[in-house]
Amino acid sequence: MKLLDGKYVSEKIKVEIAEQAAAVLAKRGRKPHLVAVLVGHDGGSETYVASKMRNCEAVGFKSSLIRYEDDVTEEDLLVKVAELNADADIDGIIVQLPLPKHIDPEKVTEKIDHRKDVDGFHPINLGRMQRNLPSFIPATPFGITLMLKEYNIETSGKHCVVVGRSNIVGSPISILMARNTYPGNCTVTICHSKTPDIKAMTLQADILIVAIGKKNFITADMVKDGVVVIDVGMNRESSAVTKSGYKLYGDVDFEGVSQKASWITPVPGGVGLMTIIGLLKNTLASANKEVYE
Ligand code: GUN
Repeated sequence: MKLLDGKYVSEKIKVEIAEQAAAVLAKRGRKPHLVAVLVGHDGGSETYVASKMRNCEAVGFKSSLIRYEDDVTEEDLLVKVAELNADADIDGIIVQLPLPKHIDPEKVTEKIDHRKDVDGFHPINLGRMQRNLPSFIPATPFGITLMLKEYNIETSGKHCVVVGRSNIVGSPISILMARNTYPGNCTVTICHSKTPDIKAMTLQADILIVAIGKKNFITADMVKDGVVVIDVGMNRESSAVTKSGYKLYGDVDFEGVSQKASWITPVPGGVGLMTIIGLLKNTLASANKEVYE
């Protein structure tokens, strides 16, 4: 078993991003600028957004965090997004999900100018991605493709099984893995809550991508020898022994599955770190007008 090492790959790519951010500053007189909107105090969201902001600063981007309490109205949020859309100093806008129940995430997603949608969640970006046109690719799927590329993992003609069909990971990564690109050209199976026998599917996987949000959901008996495993799980459990007060678990039983896998991502230290890279790359591309004029 070999490790798909998110720490190594992300640090390496961050050096390149920092150089390119410096070039943006030299050429345009300002840094790439990402704005994050965070509603409420969800523990996971707080951690992720703080990490996004920290990483922006580390590579020489400007980052701004706009916070709202849980009771912000949908109308107020949409007005803020419109304001950010119109601000020429801003290259990328993300609204951290999930949002409180009274706010429709689809409305908010569609309100973000697709040219600043560095999460790649807007239907225009999603449609363009599916057509293989220039677009912002959702950060986690983007990060996964960068990881596969870094380790030259063969994907063409392989059977890729995706467990989970979320808008954020499962659905877009399944599109990318089926596209006529590298990585891609896979035969893709998507499993979800209505799949009667998930194990029958995962046992067929050459490449297994798991984004279902359940600790240790994939066990050794569910995979075949030599499988490439991408674990997108970020399951937080409180812990008395860690400094942060919690411990992170993947969706894959690493100990068992790593005995059979040819390649596997650890949690933490795998896909989570690559998600940040996807976001930084999109923000940089936006600042450089690489995707849209
Ligand atoms: N919630 C979980 N992942 C993401 C992400 O990539 N972007 C946003 N905006 N919210 C998330």
